[in-house]
Amino acid sequence: MCGIVGYIGTQRATEILLSGLEKLEYRGYDSAGIATIWEEQINCVRAKGKLHNLRSKIEHSENPAPIGIGHTRWATHGKPEEHNAHPHMDMARRIAVVQNGIVENYRELREQLKAQGHEFVSETDTEVIPHLIAQFLKEETALADDNSDVILFEAVRKAVNQLQGAFAIAVICADYPDELIAIRQQAPLVIGFGQGEFFCASDTPAIIAHTRAVLPLENGEMARLTPLGVEVYNFAGTRQRKHVRMLSLSPTMVEKQGFKHFMLKEIYEQPGVVRACLDAYFSSADDAGDSLINLDLPESLYADLEQIQIVACGTSWHAALIGKYLLEQLAGIPTQVQYASEFRYAPAPLTPNTLTIGVTQSGETADTLAALGMEKERRQGLESKYQVRLLGITNRPESSLGHMVPHIINTLAGIEIGVAATKTFTAQLMAFYALTLDLAQRRQTLPQEKLADIITGLRGIPKEIESTLETQEKLTEHLAHDFAETQDFIFLGRGINFPIALEGALKLKEISYIHAEGYPAGEMKHGPIALLDAKVPVVAIATPGNVYEKVISNAQEAKARDSRLIGVTPVNHGEAADVFNDMIPVTEVDELLSPLLTVVPMQLLAYNIAARRGLDVDQPRNLAKSVTVE
Ligand code: F6R
Repeated sequence: MCGIVGYIGTQRATEILLSGLEKLEYRGYDSAGIATIWEEQINCVRAKGKLHNLRSKIEHSENPAPIGIGHTRWATHGKPEEHNAHPHMDMARRIAVVQNGIVENYRELREQLKAQGHEFVSETDTEVIPHLIAQFLKEETALADDNSDVILFEAVRKAVNQLQGAFAIAVICADYPDELIAIRQQAPLVIGFGQGEFFCASDTPAIIAHTRAVLPLENGEMARLTPLGVEVYNFAGTRQRKHVRMLSLSPTMVEKQGFKHFMLKEIYEQPGVVRACLDAYFSSADDAGDSLINLDLPESLYADLEQIQIVACGTSWHAALIGKYLLEQLAGIPTQVQYASEFRYAPAPLTPNTLTIGVTQSGETADTLAALGMEKERRQGLESKYQVRLLGITNRPESSLGHMVPHIINTLAGIEIGVAATKTFTAQLMAFYALTLDLAQRRQTLPQEKLADIITGLRGIPKEIESTLETQEKLTEHLAHDFAETQDFIFLGRGINFPIALEGALKLKEISYIHAEGYPAGEMKHGPIALLDAKVPVVAIATPGNVYEKVISNAQEAKARDSRLIGVTPVNHGEAADVFNDMIPVTEVDELLSPLLTVVPMQLLAYNIAARRGLDVDQPRNLAKSVTVE
């Protein structure tokens, strides 16, 4: 949450900061601001609301400053008003700071600083930082000799050592116009290296137009950026040796490429994502040899495995529920799926020989990271069968999750910009198919032919998505016309498609602001059926398999209560045509693979309803792409 960006070099910082913030706007968009240093003064401009408000305030400025910092905010402490927008400054307006994260002890620091005469103008936790730096700067300046070139750095370092919480920070000071300091403590921050110019940002899309050479800071590190280069230190002030690496991302990957929204582009990218996962996770028939799966996970992760527990949030939690179905039904391993935010404060009792999986597309979700950290800690020092075994499933192997767990399944979806997760969900499902089949093969819970059949079925999925995408888009666009003003929706599914009903409801809620509930179809009669009438449409996912007839009869119960019924179902199958008022066709495939197809119309329906309502599909209100606060 919140995006920060910094620049020092030879070009005009303002434009670089604004275009960097545009690429980070998915992280928060309640307000935005930039601060630059020009003619020995800090020039700070902030605006409530989206970045275009800030842009229009700055449009006619000719400030050529070659150094600056910028921020796009997702409000935590203090309302999304201009006075709470970053950058924040000290009383003398010499120091400017942007922060992503939370300073947990800000109340104590604020009181302490107030007692020293500091006055505050915002309700944010961040504002204590420039005041604290100003305080230490006074002391450092008094102590240092005239030639010292680390006065600002030392003041910032001392201030940072007073902060508790999870944060990434960038600092500039008008008295040191050739220095930018960037700090990371449990919130992502990457340094970029150009020709005589250097960057820092919360995420790589912000700097990819300028450089592919990057250095992700680690927790407890701070970087001093000057026009001459970058030095990295730990919080104790010891210089660190670091290696720059090259990104494989290209600038066009973070453009809409002709689509109206990133979300629609990302929905259309799903066949390619499934292909990338197929190529990476499965052997081709020719070189199959003994193993059909190439996950490269060590046997130590799987040995004597008795249980799996998965922690995740939101859409990743839905993917985990499908993972549970696969792991239990195909690999025979009892699997628990927990909301990370619940698990971290009420963990299940310790079980032996347990694999813990964290699923997070961003790899930065605070609750998921904390749940994994807690699991690691509580198993420390226990006898070997209780020792922690951690696996991460993420789309960002370079993320905090990537640093935290020893093994990763990289979901290979490419960067996702739309706030609503689409292609990364599908890629997470692919990771679960691969993991399940790998386990099933090693534990011999499935005959080799069945295993090979499932992989063959998976190989057909990209074509099946492609062949229905356009029909589904038209149909859902048409339905969106009818449902744009609807106030409540129910989504029903059973078995492996129950999590798809949850995902359909979540997508609709988050981007169209329509109330929606996903329910296991068989549970409707135990209460929620009371909600149904002609004003409440029901979307039922009915794919041939062992619960098909059951879903159809549950759908019929809804129809008997006057609900308009939309079936996500193969068109020419059984009695579907008689039951449903509208049908969104999906191809008939093995029920086990059907979520890869049924999720697409869920995404398209939500997308088209939100677009029809004229809403900001890629940046829905109150949300942010990566939730780095508790
Ligand atoms: C829904 C959505 C969120 C995320 C959730 C977890 O479309 O995007 O519900 O799925 O915030 O995020 P990650 O997967 O990054 O941990």
